[in-house]
Amino acid sequence: MTNFSLEGWLPAQQRRVEALLASRMEAIARRSPRRLSEAMAYSLLDGGKRLRPVLCLTFADQVARASNGGGEPGNDAACALECVHTYSLVHDDLPAMDDDELRRGRPTNHKVHGEAMAILAGDALLTDAFALLAHGPAAEQAVRGRLVAELALAAGAGGMVGGQVLDIAEDRPAALDYLNQLHRMKTGALIKAACRMGAIAGGADEATLQAADVYGDAVGLAFQIADDLLDVTASEAQMGKPTGADAEAGRHTFPAVVGLPQARELAQSHVARALAAVRELEEGDGPLAALARYSIERTS
Ligand code: IPE
Ligand code: IPE
Ligand code: MG
Ligand code: MG
Ligand code: MG
Repeated sequence: MTNFSLEGWLPAQQRRVEALLASRMEAIARRSPRRLSEAMAYSLLDGGKRLRPVLCLTFADQVARASNGGGEPGNDAACALECVHTYSLVHDDLPAMDDDELRRGRPTNHKVHGEAMAILAGDALLTDAFALLAHGPAAEQAVRGRLVAELALAAGAGGMVGGQVLDIAEDRPAALDYLNQLHRMKTGALIKAACRMGAIAGGADEATLQAADVYGDAVGLAFQIADDLLDVTASEAQMGKPTGADAEAGRHTFPAVVGLPQARELAQSHVARALAAVRELEEGDGPLAALARYSIERTS
């Protein structure tokens, strides 16, 4: 059997996400100060791979084939995930954090809009993500409540923000256990939430939700190992963000701790785990399998 090809399919999904985000951003802009909405839109609408919303929509679509799920809660979940991801990047680039000047091929938010507005734009993206998720007709409230809880837990102290703290800790050990924990929290939690939220919006049963969980955990780890590898092997032009920055900052990345070949092997083993988790759901090879492979084969 030939593998499902992302060529053509992924750009179409990315365009679907762009359209959803543009409509949500337009509604936010109507009720907020212009300087703020401009700073939010600068980072939210300027591209990126849109992996998290694409994973969410793909799970919603795949699961909804067998149920009546998906629809607006799935679309809002996809947008909320990208809002939270974007806020995390805006804050991650700030001088007090990674102090980076380039993101997605453009100057970072604070370089254009100033530090105060970048902080506030991040705050607003985070907060409005939950407004987006919670707001909907009465009939959707049960599923929307579950989506809010998933995203909050993944993004908060026990997830992404906690992971950022482990990443900048000065006394962090160069040990594999610590790295796995750090990556699961910093990047893995939101990617796993994207998969789980899509499954929930699609009306998944418990077994399918468990499959989304395992797949999300594996892709989350594989994706961040690839981010670390690309920081060593790719160019700034290719990535649209500075490379070589991890080594310069003395970060304990996978290549730094276990070496390049073993980091690649680890990423491969996580992809294999992801493929196994969705084999039944996709009845062979489909977009989820292809996205798992893409998480490490990507070049940007
Ligand atoms: C970058 O995420 C930060 C990490 C968690 C590795 P992405 O690589 O998904 O960034 P964009 O959204 O495509 O720019
Ligand atoms: C950022 O990790 C992860 C989050 C924003 C949660 P990195 O610092 O490795 O991301 P890049 O390399 O700047 O995109
Ligand atoms: Mg960082
Ligand atoms: Mg960074
Ligand atoms: Mg990185």
